[in-house]
Amino acid sequence: MSQTFSQQKFDALRTEISAAIVATEGHLSDHEVDFLTLASAVPSATGEVLEIGSFKGKSTIVLAKSAKHAGDAHTGLWACDPFTSPTVTCPDLEEDSSFSDFERNLRSADVTADVRVFQDYSDQLALTWNTSLRLLWIDGDHTFAGAKKDFDNFSPWLVDGAIIAFHDTLHSHDGPCRVFANDILLSPHYGACGFCGSIAWARYSSKPITDETIKQRKLQLYRQLTHLVALTALDQDIAGWRKVLYRWSRTWIPHGPMSLPSWKKWLAMEVSS
Ligand SMILES: C[S@@+](CC[C@H](N)C(=O)[O-])C[C@H]1O[C@@H](n2cnc3c(N)ncnc32)[C@H](O)[C@@H]1O
Repeated sequence: MSQTFSQQKFDALRTEISAAIVATEGHLSDHEVDFLTLASAVPSATGEVLEIGSFKGKSTIVLAKSAKHAGDAHTGLWACDPFTSPTVTCPDLEEDSSFSDFERNLRSADVTADVRVFQDYSDQLALTWNTSLRLLWIDGDHTFAGAKKDFDNFSPWLVDGAIIAFHDTLHSHDGPCRVFANDILLSPHYGACGFCGSIAWARYSSKPITDETIKQRKLQLYRQLTHLVALTALDQDIAGWRKVLYRWSRTWIPHGPMSLPSWKKWLAMEVSS
C-alpha cells in the first residue's frame, strides 16, 4: 500500500484535511497533522486505529480522512474520550462538554460513519478492548499516571510493525514524555522512532531489535529526553529559569517535519532487524 500512495495523493489529501479542520478547535500544528496523515494513510501494519483523547475532533478528522486511503484492511478507527470539560489538560475550558462540537465537526467533515466513538475514559474502554492495533494515538490524560495507564492497557494490542504515538511529549506535561523515555526508548521492542513537533512516535516489534544503529539512536534520544523529564516530573512547575532551561534542552531533540519519502523510508526498515 505504501508504494501506491504518491506525493500527489498526499498533497491532495492534505489540502482536503486542511479545509476540513480549519474551523476545528484543537492543538495540532501543521507538521503534526502531516505526521498523523502519513501514519493513518500509509499503514505500517494491519489492524485498527485507536485515538485516546478526541476533544472536538481535530485529530479524529485527520485520522478518519487519511484512513480511507489505507486500504480496506486498515480503515477501522475508534475515538475514545469522556468529552467532559474542563479537562485535566485544558482546565480553563468553560463548556460542560465538548461532545456536541465533536459531533458537529465530524458531521461537517463527512466522517461520522467512519468513526466508532466510545464516550468514556480510556480505562473503561480497556476493560472490553480486544482489537489488534496498527496505530495507537495517545492524546488523553497527560499526567504520568494517565499516560502510563494508556500505554500499559493498550500497547499489548499493537501488532508487529504498528505505530504508537503520543502527543505533547515536548510540552510541559510530564506523562507522555516520561512514558516514551522509559517504556519505549528503553524497550528492545521498539525500533524506528522519533519526534515530529510535539508528537513522539515509535514502531513496535515483537522480536527484540538488535540493530546497533537503532539502539544508539534510541539511547541518544533517551539522554536528550530525560533532561525534559527531570524538569517536569513530580509536578514541577515550568516557570522562570526552569522554563528557559526546558526550552533550551528541547532544541537538542530533533523534532522536525515528516515527509512522505521519509515515512516510507522508516517503514521500509525491517521490523525485527
Ligand atoms: C488535548 S485534548 C485532545 C485533543 C485532540 N486529540 C485534538 O486533536 O484536538 C485531551 C482530551 O483527552 C480527554 N481525556 C482526558 N483523560 C482521558 C482519558 N483517561 N481517556 C480518554 N480521554 C481522556 C479530554 O476529555 C480531552 O478532550
